[in-house]
Amino acid sequence: MNAPDQYGVVGHPISHSWSPFIHGLFAKQTDQSINYRLYDITPENFRAQVLEFFTRGGRGLNVTVPHKEAAAELANSLTERADRAGAVNTLILNPDHVLLGDNTDGHGLVTDLRKNLGLDITNERLLILGAGGATRGVVEPLLALGPTELVIANRTPERAVNLASLFADLGAVRGCGFDDVGDEPFDVIINATAAGLSGSVPNIDGGVVATHSVCYDMSYSRSATPFVTWAVEHGCARAHKGWGMLVEQAAESFTLWRGVRPDTEPVLAALGMK
Ligand code: ATR
Repeated sequence: MNAPDQYGVVGHPISHSWSPFIHGLFAKQTDQSINYRLYDITPENFRAQVLEFFTRGGRGLNVTVPHKEAAAELANSLTERADRAGAVNTLILNPDHVLLGDNTDGHGLVTDLRKNLGLDITNERLLILGAGGATRGVVEPLLALGPTELVIANRTPERAVNLASLFADLGAVRGCGFDDVGDEPFDVIINATAAGLSGSVPNIDGGVVATHSVCYDMSYSRSATPFVTWAVEHGCARAHKGWGMLVEQAAESFTLWRGVRPDTEPVLAALGMK
């Protein structure tokens, strides 16, 4: 029997990641022989250690905080969606030894919002908090759903303004600081900041939340995240953690690597999401 093909996820920190569990279930379900490991790599060592992984025969990596933009620079070639995002969450070593970078985050988020949570983003007002790598990957697919307006608000306003300008040709998108989102509440509010990692929430006025608002935290944890707690306290209709996005982006990466699409339902169920 051949040795399993090597995959993994690179991040810093990474010990909290559920990706090995998820990809392990996908592999079992689709009868694929793979090993999927955690790689805690600092920004200084990212390039050298990722190249070493592939030189030693590794087949693919997921990339998470804080390396998504560095991974886009490292890849030999980018898919159109990763190029537009300037951020990569999936690296694939092709048989011709071209290291391809893709971004499956947007697919993961949109699939979770629409298929798993039954949301219809079309003609709705959307607010995304944060303007880092997590936001970059989801702006294009969110705009493709045809929201009335997509506002990107960030602690450092210039980053949001710059990011919005990169997508201005795709729909009604505006970047601003937390104080400039306006007085009208939003239909959907997505937290894509790293504030939760330090146990805090973005410093935004609770008036953005109305009783019909759906709030979504791209972060995930077993207990309520700070943003989910904040959203519930401000009277939202419902608030979700990012487990579904995690599973759906992983399924898209797995499909790119292995050529077979896993069923996400049993994995969501195993995580207690169904
Ligand atoms: P990622 O790839 O996860 O998006 P990043 O590029 O470091 O990581 O971006 C982190 C995002 O979280 C940024 O939008 C950051 O705001 P700044 O651009 O002002 O740094 C945001 N962020 C981090 N900690 C935050 C906090 N305590 N409150 C609000 N925003 C925060």
